[in-house]
Amino acid sequence: MTLGMGLVGPGFIAAHHLDAVRRLGNVEVIGIAGSSLESTKKRARELNAGRAYAGYRELLADPAVHVVHNTTPNHLHREVSLAALRAGKHVISDKPLAATMEESRELYEAARDANLAHVVTFNYRGYPLVQQARAMIAKGKIGKSVFVHGCYLQDWLTDERAYTWRLDPKLGGASSALGDIGSHWCDLAEHVTGARIVEVLADLHTVVAEREVPDTAAKAFAGKAKAPGKKRRITSEDVASVLLRFDNGARGCVTVGQVLPGHKNDLRLEVNGREGSIAWRQEQPNELWLGHHAKANTVLTRDPALMDPTARGYAHLPAGHPEAWADAFRNIIADAYAWIRRDARADAKPIALPTFADGYRNSLLVDAMLRSHAAGGVWQPVTDPLETKRTTRKRG
Ligand SMILES: NC(=O)c1ccc[n+]([C@@H]2O[C@H](COP(=O)([O-])OP(=O)(O)OC[C@H]3O[C@@H](n4cnc5c(N)ncnc54)[C@H](O)[C@@H]3O)[C@@H](O)[C@H]2O)c1
Repeated sequence: MTLGMGLVGPGFIAAHHLDAVRRLGNVEVIGIAGSSLESTKKRARELNAGRAYAGYRELLADPAVHVVHNTTPNHLHREVSLAALRAGKHVISDKPLAATMEESRELYEAARDANLAHVVTFNYRGYPLVQQARAMIAKGKIGKSVFVHGCYLQDWLTDERAYTWRLDPKLGGASSALGDIGSHWCDLAEHVTGARIVEVLADLHTVVAEREVPDTAAKAFAGKAKAPGKKRRITSEDVASVLLRFDNGARGCVTVGQVLPGHKNDLRLEVNGREGSIAWRQEQPNELWLGHHAKANTVLTRDPALMDPTARGYAHLPAGHPEAWADAFRNIIADAYAWIRRDARADAKPIALPTFADGYRNSLLVDAMLRSHAAGGVWQPVTDPLETKRTTRKRG
């Protein structure tokens, strides 16, 4: 059966959702909804994306739409995803799940009770060698994990004339760099290691504390203002360093920043075990570094023939034919639609597929980091208010 998809929020990342869906071959793009009918019509023509709806409610009312992709700015995630679930649609939301932890919890609970597929595009999970790393660690190939570290560094906000809605807490959420890209790293670290971050100690900083807001500020990655714009004080962080403690006893750290010249999309993850190490770098995604103590280190280049059976399906080309960002994104979207076709049964969810449960968990992590920094840089537990409520009820 061909499934129909509709997309709300046709900006930067939307084009990649559409591209991924088209590559599946059995999903029809029904239409899109944007911030105004006029801009949506223009965007629908540019993206060849079917109908232009007057707003997301009109899109949700269309019975031809079975799956809703939510690629709006963060402050609209809750409203759009909740309405989509209530309309009986499967939801694929971009990250973060919502702008606050409370909103994320509400979405997670609504999705859990809805018998519908609920996906958050933590797309870095979709790389074949990320799945290879996950499989190797799960199978004990590096022994007990003891240290998990890395970074997610970018430079697109280096210039003080660069501006994005992400820097406005009302639109992007209280956190900027951590919520925007630190979220990806934390999800990846937990997914690959199978361990959970239970305590954090965070130091946040705003390097560029005043920016010029260009007229095109609503657009992501808007770039520099051509004419001098209005000055605006920036309160959310553009760099952060976080120490981590995991539930399996492992320690770790991550650095995040978006004002770091030369770093484009520099996500790196390294896991050191007692018997070996594994490192992966997003900008060299076809290589997995395998470190050893008493024998030579090796580099596993992506080759379906050499990969773990659970990871092989994420590689589509033979060795020597590089696969990259768009292919990994497509893999996550393929898993999402595979789950939808299995009626979104809990036992049928592909292991690599991130859900609203993961999105909620991720919001708890970012929230704990914000709390840690606000308290002056002290360890904070990653608490789950749902769990706390349940424990208190049991005790009482
Ligand atoms: N997974 C990733 O790697 C990745 C990368 C980039 C962005 N994202 C996420 O995707 C989301 C969108 O980011 P972006 O970079 O594409 O932003 P963007 O600003 O380019 O796009 C947002 C779109 O939403 C539209 N919009 C605004 N108000 C709307 C409304 N009321 N109804 C419908 N549409 C509305 C805007 O017109 C715009 O087209 C964010 O949550 C961001 O965190 C994820």
